[in-house]
Amino acid sequence: PNYASVNNLSNMLNVKIEKLIRDLTSLGFANVTHNYILSREYIELILQEYNYKIDGENTGTTFENVYEELKSPVNPKNLARRPPIVTIMGHVDHGKTTILDYLRKSSIVSEEHGGITQHIGAFQINTPLSGRKITFLDTPGHAAFLKMRERGATITDIVVLVISVEDSIMPQTLEAIKHVRNSGNELIVAITKIDKFSNKKERERAIDKVTNDLMNNGVPIEKMGGDVQVIPISARTGENMDLLEESIILLSDIMDLKGEQGSNTNSEGWILESEVKKSMGNVSTILMTRGILTKGKVLICGNTYCKVRSIMDETGRQINQAAPSQAVEITGWKDLPHAGDEVIQVSNESMAKKFVAKRQSLLQSAREAANVEKLNQQRFLEA
Ligand code: GTP
Ligand code: MG
Repeated sequence: PNYASVNNLSNMLNVKIEKLIRDLTSLGFANVTHNYILSREYIELILQEYNYKIDGENTGTTFENVYEELKSPVNPKNLARRPPIVTIMGHVDHGKTTILDYLRKSSIVSEEHGGITQHIGAFQINTPLSGRKITFLDTPGHAAFLKMRERGATITDIVVLVISVEDSIMPQTLEAIKHVRNSGNELIVAITKIDKFSNKKERERAIDKVTNDLMNNGVPIEKMGGDVQVIPISARTGENMDLLEESIILLSDIMDLKGEQGSNTNSEGWILESEVKKSMGNVSTILMTRGILTKGKVLICGNTYCKVRSIMDETGRQINQAAPSQAVEITGWKDLPHAGDEVIQVSNESMAKKFVAKRQSLLQSAREAANVEKLNQQRFLEA
């Protein structure tokens, strides 16, 4: 189109109008409303900057395309099993943190109150029976995840829905069920706090009530011939926690989760968190999705790049490499990357510099165009 209102554009792009207005405002457009008229030039800039695509129309080089061009095709020979990435959802106080805490075998519940939680948003465990790895994300409501979701990236493989046996299904439980349905994640239900019932009969009755409520809300549980496993647990006594872990592994095997792990596969991942740390400089947590990350590799992300100087696991220990599904902290960034942005490896530093320069000049021209547009709109209003 040569002209479109913000309203039209939001329909064409299938982007929420509030989000489009936010994006326009952050580009420098002032007083944007739903009937603000944009000319073709500016529409193109917006498409480029935010990687929006109009259905059926080739909009030229977007940043995402630049990223796509840098990605090498998947080499099936390098595909190997990767750990499942799991998030825990559930109603307030139903026991999410206590489960993560048990899994991590530390005391985050008490640390939370002391305000000294040192964590990187994700951690990996070895299951007690099969010795397999599982990655847990402990901040699924985090802005980084919302941003990734907006970009169509689903990082999570499996959602563990926690339901307290005392309360059964509550409003946020229903929200989580809806989320799982829409996201296409696989689901496991953990009915927790079963230690609250010492009487076996009462306990069974309470668990049955939760499973009935699940059925009545359309969750296809195994008991009814569906495929959703339901595990009664106590994160306080640890009862059946091993079963929960093994059912995650079982499900991940059915899902056949694979990641490319060749030593020369280009690394890729997503930024979960990013901050400047004393004595370490720019540090970010990256969730690996592809390749084996090692020191010295060069990564680009948004406006910045990184020659990986050090890699640390969730306990702060220095490690030499990170594989798909692993979340690690890395140092070596020129500038801080943004949480929720995609990271990909390039072959060397000069290529990274070229990429960053190109992106910055596009951004600059978008800002300039936005300012011209602002003036035009002002003249239009004054006339
Ligand atoms: P929010 O983060 O506020 O939504 O809560 P949460 O879902 O993380 O719940 P949390 O783990 O903080 O647990 C809430 C309360 O339930 C705490 O007092 C826990 O000690 C208690 N609790 C959690 N799991 C269990 C359990 O398995 N058994 C018993 N008896 N208490 C539990
Ligand atoms: Mg909590």
